[in-house]
Amino acid sequence: MPSLNVNGKKIDFAAQPDTSLLWVLREHLGLTGTKFGCGAGMCGACTIHIDGEATFACQMLAEDAVGTEITTIEGLSPDGTHPLQKAWIAEQTPQCGYCQSGQIMRAAALLNSTPNPSRAEIVDWMAANICRCGTYPRIIRAIERASKEA
Ligand code: FES
Repeated sequence: MPSLNVNGKKIDFAAQPDTSLLWVLREHLGLTGTKFGCGAGMCGACTIHIDGEATFACQMLAEDAVGTEITTIEGLSPDGTHPLQKAWIAEQTPQCGYCQSGQIMRAAALLNSTPNPSRAEIVDWMAANICRCGTYPRIIRAIERASKEA
C-alpha cells in the first residue's frame, strides 16, 4: 500500500491509480479544508503545498505525490496561528469562505519565497486563485499585514 507524507505524518492510502490527490485528501483522509472548486485547475480552491510549492490538488494524481511533502491548510500551523491566519481574521477576509483555504495556502507559498512582496507582486501571484465573492481587496490587505508581522 502506498503512503503519503501529509502534514508531517506518513499515511497509508488505498485508491484507484487515477484518483486525484484532492480526492484522497478529502475522502480518504478527511482533510476537508482543501476544497473542490472546478476540478480543472482553473480556480485554486484546492491549493495545497507540494514540497513547499503551491499546487492544485485536483490536477495531481495521488500516486504522483508519493515521496513528496504535502501540506494542507490543516498543517499550515499546529494551532491556526500562522501570520496569514491571524491576518485573515484581523482583516475579516472571508465572505462565504469556500475559496479561502486555497487563498491562504497560495499566499503562504508567496511569503515563503518572498517575505516582503510588493502589492503588485501579491496581485500577480494571487491571480491564480478565484474568489467569486470578490474578497480580493481584503485578501491583499491580509497578505500585506502578514508580511509585516511575519
Ligand atoms: Fe466566497 Fe471567496 S469568500 S468564494
